[in-house]
Amino acid sequence: MFETIPMMPEDPVLGLSTEFKKLSIPRKVNLGVGIYRDEKGLSTPFKSVQTVEKQLAEEMLLKDYLPIEGDTDFIELTKRLVLGDLANDPKIVSLQTVGGTSALNTTAKLIRAAGVKQIHLPDKTWPNHPAIFEGEGLSLNLYSHLDWARLLSLPEKSAILVHAACHNPTGLDPTKGEWETFLREAKARNYLLIFDNAYQGFGEGLEEDAWAFRESIRRGITTIITTSFSKNFGLYGERVGLLSIALPTENQATKVFSFVKSLIRGVYSNPPLQGQRIITAILSSETLKADWEMELETRRQRIVQVRKDLSKVFPTVNQEKGFFSLLPLSLDQIERLKEEFGLLIVKSGRINVSGINSDNFEYVTQALRQVL
Ligand code: LMR
Repeated sequence: MFETIPMMPEDPVLGLSTEFKKLSIPRKVNLGVGIYRDEKGLSTPFKSVQTVEKQLAEEMLLKDYLPIEGDTDFIELTKRLVLGDLANDPKIVSLQTVGGTSALNTTAKLIRAAGVKQIHLPDKTWPNHPAIFEGEGLSLNLYSHLDWARLLSLPEKSAILVHAACHNPTGLDPTKGEWETFLREAKARNYLLIFDNAYQGFGEGLEEDAWAFRESIRRGITTIITTSFSKNFGLYGERVGLLSIALPTENQATKVFSFVKSLIRGVYSNPPLQGQRIITAILSSETLKADWEMELETRRQRIVQVRKDLSKVFPTVNQEKGFFSLLPLSLDQIERLKEEFGLLIVKSGRINVSGINSDNFEYVTQALRQVL
């Protein structure tokens, strides 16, 4: 029965973590998966997260199912983080999701059900984007990342995915002026905009990184925001995200909310408890929230500093934002970096800048110089 099922290649990003464990080169460095690494190369949890985890461990918490749309307090608090002043707009619905991935997958199902047949994705993007939308039966049209002329000439009502901030994999974000031109045209052409919001707080700051999608909503564009809290709370394995959909009318919002719930029920039924509990506790305490914001800002600043250092070797890296940079490396060079130096890089040439620290800086830059 399963004879026709094909053998699939390893995941280009998550597969690297398994490869990394197997590498026997002692000085190996993992610049693959987008997990924030500190100065020691570790993915240490936020202290504010650890504080809450200790508190939660002391409490007798029920393990009931959450509602399909997620925890009410969590949604209220995270909505504020993502949407700011727009959080109370009744035309916007928000639901807790299983990381950013299920927010994207639910989006694909929703727009397909609404009659959208094609999604426009940047040609350079997170490798899971094409897989998610194609998997839900949408055809793909790739636009060259930051090619505004192309984006502004797509047919009316096009569904377009953009990266809110910290473009994955290039680190190159539009300027405010470019966003404004794009959003003006998007409104005139009735585009449906999907903002992948996986790195809020790592570009220019929590508020700044939310500007483009908030502006899209303010301009009356039908806007979907798929938020991941994996990176900005360091909760990768807990799988916490938020799907927000800004619709033209309250009546549509009510219907879409009920429809999205019915989609979720058939996939994961309702979202997990623990990550949501941690984020809810942090955001509902002024002190913990301030601590968390400071920790996030420290992480952001460290990446900015690594970029400054790295720009002595790769000058453009300094103009980019967030975790990633795309280096001009061929597949052969990437293979040599792995085999000779134990340096793991995504096959597109994407590096996780936070994986570079003062201990491995010389080693990494020497290795890169040798293969380039
Ligand atoms: C990445 O791009 O490295 C992260 O978003 C992790 C993932 O799931 O691919």
